[in-house]
Amino acid sequence: MTNKILILNNISDKGLDLLPKDNYTITEEEQNPDAILLRSYKMHDMDIPDSLLAVGRAGAGTNNIPIDSMSEKGVVVFNAPGANSNAVKELVIAGMLMACRNLVQAKEYVDGLEGEDSELHKQVEAGKKKFAGFELPGRTLGVVGLGAIGVRIANAAKALGMNVVGYDPRIQIKYAWQLSSDVEPVDTIDELLSQSDFITFHVPLLDSTKDLINAESIKGMKDNAVVLNFARDGIVNEEAVVAAIEEGKLHSYVCDFPSNAIKGAKGVIALPHLGASTTEAEENCATMVAVQIRDYIENGIVTNSVNLPDIKLARAGECRLAIMHKNHPDMVGQISSVLGECSANIHHMVNDSHGDLAYTLMDLNSQIVDVDVAALSAIEGVLKVRLL
Ligand code: NAD
Ligand code: MLT
Repeated sequence: MTNKILILNNISDKGLDLLPKDNYTITEEEQNPDAILLRSYKMHDMDIPDSLLAVGRAGAGTNNIPIDSMSEKGVVVFNAPGANSNAVKELVIAGMLMACRNLVQAKEYVDGLEGEDSELHKQVEAGKKKFAGFELPGRTLGVVGLGAIGVRIANAAKALGMNVVGYDPRIQIKYAWQLSSDVEPVDTIDELLSQSDFITFHVPLLDSTKDLINAESIKGMKDNAVVLNFARDGIVNEEAVVAAIEEGKLHSYVCDFPSNAIKGAKGVIALPHLGASTTEAEENCATMVAVQIRDYIENGIVTNSVNLPDIKLARAGECRLAIMHKNHPDMVGQISSVLGECSANIHHMVNDSHGDLAYTLMDLNSQIVDVDVAALSAIEGVLKVRLL
């Protein structure tokens, strides 16, 4: 059977080539896809087809995907944690340097010069004092969110001679291990803001992370601080930051999310969502999600999902059943009863859940037939049944 993959954004061939043409068709238009691959395409207004098994976000942020609706329909959503983190780290370092050396304004100045070279050289020497900047060593960087990206930035900034303070109340153990012991943890964002010359955000966009920088919090910041936002628009209140730069309180705002409110504003450097746009990051993200989607379609294995925990089971027995269902009482009991009625013996199984969504993956010691699959599908609360 051919699996149909719908692509909603450009996805690197390095990943797509991992889905063999004999078993997968990959198109930009498909009414009944088995899986969808995308980057930043906003799926919120899209109808979710009944055929859909999985969505692969070739990147980190999943705020462009209606995760709850996907869970309600038994669709697994995967992302690519860490696969673009070096690309974002490098752009944040570039952003700090663009800001503290006034590089954008300096380039604009040079682009506007006119006259013979001798005249131009005079203007260069006369004009450069306007763009004198400051250096990174000894300055303090505050990193909000110490996940895949934040930890890399914190460590890189230490290597550049900066002091680094970090805030993440739910840091994962694997990232805590990677974090330089010279990074100073703080207990609140306000504490971080009061100490930092540069503040950079690496948190997902959630209700709890909206407007983390706002008119009130800016009052507690150091004068001349630089705010960097390569996470998502909405995390920094644009009007408040633009006003604070106008008033001379903040030095600049460097971000990846242009809007009419900030485009061309004094002290703002807005880039066209370039954080993950490197060959390496695009290949890493596409490869990671393609491998995950293929393993889910072919083996029912779940790795790096945002609406289910990791679920693995080594293949054994005669056939495999992958059952997506509601996280309600007695679901496994009802599934076992139906299997008992058709004399199927469970070799081994795993069941796990996240919120309202649950998943049971099992290998049976005998084959089952379509009518048994239909009986499983008829159980109230069962969302999808696949015989693999
Ligand atoms: P991650 O999941 O590895 O890390 C996010 C961290 O934020 C987690 O450790 C979490 O505990 C922490 N966090 C959540 N809420 C917090 C809060 N209120 N205060 C402090 N910490 C909080 O994700 P990541 O790969 O580091 O990416 C972070 C975000 O960056 C993504 O969600 C995405 O929106 C954005 N991103 C943007 C680009 C780009 O192209 N500009 C590229 C990749 C990621
Ligand atoms: C992400 O969250 O990973 C980014 O938005 C990257 C992208 O451009 O796809």
